[in-house]
Amino acid sequence: MGLYDVIKNRKTMYSFSPKQVKEETIIDILDSARLAPAAGGVHEYEFVVITEPKKKEEISKICLTPNINSAPFIIVIICNPSKLRTIFDEEDSATFCIENAAIAIENILLFAAEQGLGSAWIATTQQEQMRSLLGIPNNYIIRGVIPIGYPSDAGAGIIQTSLPQLKEITHIESFNNKAV
Ligand SMILES: Cc1cc2nc3c(=O)[nH]c(=O)nc-3n(C[C@H](O)[C@H](O)[C@H](O)COP(=O)(O)O)c2cc1C
Repeated sequence: MGLYDVIKNRKTMYSFSPKQVKEETIIDILDSARLAPAAGGVHEYEFVVITEPKKKEEISKICLTPNINSAPFIIVIICNPSKLRTIFDEEDSATFCIENAAIAIENILLFAAEQGLGSAWIATTQQEQMRSLLGIPNNYIIRGVIPIGYPSDAGAGIIQTSLPQLKEITHIESFNNKAV
């Protein structure tokens, strides 16, 4: 599948088939995130990969998202803004920490989709509970919880969204000249 088709077909998914994902695929997914562009070339984010059923269940509760524990694995992406302070001020470090993680997560979602896998980006999580469950130090911020697995059956767990038309969000040359 070409990249545009992968982008068009990717959908958020919250429940998964029990079919296991090969370890080399998991590694490639993580590597796709590592290869993302990063502000100043500083890749300050790290991953915690969870496969243990009890922990996945806890994560599902902490994120208030039922069924994500059905995923064979969950990636938690964490970032440490202080690592960006070597070249950026505090404000930029805080912003770039979010942006670097976001683009890395998008690589994960797209590469997973290209592999026939479903995924979700869950940003809403109780930081302190997650920190304590996974032993994440206080200087790291949890940026995303990403369950990944094969789809359970046609469309299960997929949410419907309405996208804006391109012309509604595109301006040509100047803001007051909307695309038609
Ligand atoms: C920054 C960001 C944060 C998100 N946080 C959550 C979340 O906390 N919980 C959740 O169920 N989905 C979350 N999502 C998934 C969105 O709800 C989903 O992408 C959106 O509804 C569009 O659906 P689609 O991904 O299938 O196109 C998040 C997505 C993004 C990009």
